[in-house]
Amino acid sequence: MTSLKHLKLERDGHVATVFLHRPKQLNALNLELMSELVSVLDALESDDEIRSVVLTGDERAFAAGADITDMADADSTEMLRRNQFAKWERIRKFSKPLIAAVSGFALGGGCELVMHCDMVIASETAQFGQPEIKLGVIPGAGGTQRLTRTVGKQHAMELVLTGKFISAKQAEAWGMVNRVVPIESYLNEAQKLAREIAQMSPIAVRLAKESVLKVYDAHLAEGLEFERKNFYLLFNTEDQKEGMKAFIEKRPAKFRGK
Ligand code: CAA
Repeated sequence: MTSLKHLKLERDGHVATVFLHRPKQLNALNLELMSELVSVLDALESDDEIRSVVLTGDERAFAAGADITDMADADSTEMLRRNQFAKWERIRKFSKPLIAAVSGFALGGGCELVMHCDMVIASETAQFGQPEIKLGVIPGAGGTQRLTRTVGKQHAMELVLTGKFISAKQAEAWGMVNRVVPIESYLNEAQKLAREIAQMSPIAVRLAKESVLKVYDAHLAEGLEFERKNFYLLFNTEDQKEGMKAFIEKRPAKFRGK
């Protein structure tokens, strides 16, 4: 694998741990980081030694979303041409168990990346949210679809329409995470779970994962496509330009419905 700029990779027996690593930007998922993630998953997919994978950030943030500076000036045509979220299909199709170890912010694309994972271990400090609405846009990497399936329509509406953050405990109560543990042990817990699964038959694990995901996958692809188009569409609005500019300029946004 070529050297990694925004990720770190550790291997321990049959378990690999992938660290999102743009600490100064709270691990915001820029295009380069996502390309690296896809390449790393490709390599881990074909590596027979690796049987399960932990995906994590650092204590302050799992990831604070897609990188706003990448998209602030783009219009719908550019977003459609770029089709950046199509890449996330690679994560959806990863055949080995993927366990998220989450501490700090898991927001927007960060929360969506967590929801791509099969299991989630959260530290007590974790916060989850889909704050895109505050930027004048909507989730674009499956948030409206996966969140609704996981927490139900009412809770999903509240998160997606207000952009509020919820605590790890709340996320646990709503079924978004497997369990909440002290910050000192969230990564160890996730790796322990990965090791436990790595002792099972890899082929049985693969088919078990595929079978569980079938419950969710019916109509998911269609819903994802629909959401993605709506997300790109919003890049022709003045509100998206205002929302993202306001974030970069560190001031509240003024939306005018244009
Ligand atoms: N994109 C780009 N940069 C980001 C970022 C993002 N999503 N989130 C944080 N950063 C940067 C900040 O700009 C800041 O950079 P500077 O030091 O250069 O100013 C640095 O990370 C630290 O962030 P803050 O100073 O804002 O830290 P804070 O502790 O005061 O606030 C926060 C933390 C509440 C998470 C705040 O950073 C925030 O609201 N971030 C944006 C969250 C967001 O809106 N995410 C959704 C993005 S859109 C998306 O994800 C679309 C999709 O569906 C895939």
